[in-house]
Amino acid sequence: NAASRVFTFEDAGTRPGACLTLSIPEVLDPRYGMYVWPCAVVLAQYLWSRKEQLPGLGVLELGAGVSLPGVVAARCGAKVILSDRAEAPSCLDNCRRSCRANGVQDAVVLGLTWGDVSPDVLLLPKLDLILGSDVFYDPEDFEDVFFTVAFLLRKNPEAQFWTTYQERSADWSVAALLRRWNLRCVAVGLDSFGADKPDLAGSNLPGRHRVLMAVITLGGDEG
Ligand SMILES: C[S@@+](CC[C@H](N)C(=O)[O-])C[C@H]1O[C@@H](n2cnc3c(N)ncnc32)[C@H](O)[C@@H]1O
Repeated sequence: NAASRVFTFEDAGTRPGACLTLSIPEVLDPRYGMYVWPCAVVLAQYLWSRKEQLPGLGVLELGAGVSLPGVVAARCGAKVILSDRAEAPSCLDNCRRSCRANGVQDAVVLGLTWGDVSPDVLLLPKLDLILGSDVFYDPEDFEDVFFTVAFLLRKNPEAQFWTTYQERSADWSVAALLRRWNLRCVAVGLDSFGADKPDLAGSNLPGRHRVLMAVITLGGDEG
């Protein structure tokens, strides 16, 4: 059931011709569901649009799955840590497989379950960016995701959380959680980085799904 999906990020701006092609192995078994979600290609495109700022940055991807955004960040020169549920070794294997398939040798793969502060989390190095693609898909997890994001931002007050999410229900809102954790959220228009299209990076993603992007930082006096 394993197959690979190819993504080619092109440079429409200053350096026409420069491009990055990645091959992401997917496991199309419904029990694992480890494939590239529509949100991932949008976040990857955002990283690609900011590639000049990535070299040397400390980047942690949460709920990375097959890790398209993290692999883009690594290939653009960031120091990347990929994480997924600590209790799901098969998810962590997916992170490693994506690295191997794309020549990423120095990324660290870590079990990090949202809401848990394990010794590994306490020992994380300095972070500049936290990534989360489609980590807001089950309202039962929202509190745990925010706990982890707020914890990491307080340890790294200059860091930003870049997240893409799919609008699955108009009833879901994270406004109360943002207030509770004293976080500031700024929406980023997909048109501002060329992601307002159904077919990004030569793929058929995000398709017709409505994906949104936000940058979350510490709010109030904490930032
Ligand atoms: C919808 S998938 C998104 C995967 C990937 N980020 C993407 O966009 O292609 C959600 C991911 O979150 C991970 N996940 C689910 N619950 C988690 C938890 N409690 N802690 C950490 N990761 C979790 C899953 O294993 C899965 O990789």
